[in-house]
Amino acid sequence: MKWVVLVGSVRSGSFNAALARALEPLSPDGVSIEILPSVAEMPIYDGDIEAAGIPGQVSSVGDKVRAADALVIVTPEYNYSVPGGLKNAIDWLSRLKPQPLKGKPTLIMSASPSTMGGARSQYHLRQVLVAVDADVMNVPEVMVAQAHTKIADGTLTDQGTRDFVAGQLAAFHAFVRKAKAGEAAEA
Ligand code: FNR
Repeated sequence: MKWVVLVGSVRSGSFNAALARALEPLSPDGVSIEILPSVAEMPIYDGDIEAAGIPGQVSSVGDKVRAADALVIVTPEYNYSVPGGLKNAIDWLSRLKPQPLKGKPTLIMSASPSTMGGARSQYHLRQVLVAVDADVMNVPEVMVAQAHTKIADGTLTDQGTRDFVAGQLAAFHAFVRKAKAGEAAEA
């Protein structure tokens, strides 16, 4: 089973990118994970650019999301919401046909140095994902609070958090399998 990961932060020392890198070894057997190109590679959404032709960076991410069994979004919280770059990426993807996020089994997680762990960004993100009709898993939720105490030198070191993330990934694996079984039954 193939999952792709969209990271909401573009900085080199990102806690969220570190969390994204930690996912594959914590995932159930048989899951392979690819981290998608940085959201910084997409231009700011502009209807004129779209009219001239969808940028290659956008269509290539769209193709990867479409081909994957599931999507994981790992994002920081900026001013109680998602970073603009992540919202921009979702806005671009929503313009593709077929729309790659529609019905896609999707998992959200966040990391923040705060004690809230990015919870507010997750709830804003859930609202946006309603618009694109993604199939978002509700629970369990993962918010890595006080991320600077759990991630060191780009590695998720805190064992309790690693176990918690592994539990969420196992639940998501079951969620994706159920979604795929439903699709197969409909076909
Ligand atoms: C933040 N940060 C932040 N944290 C949080 O928990 N709630 C918030 O509302 C905000 N707001 C915010 C706005 C802006 C513009 C910046 C740059 C930062 C702090 C943020 O969680 C912290 O910088 C993280 O380290 C960013 O994630 P990465 O880059 O480490 O993945």
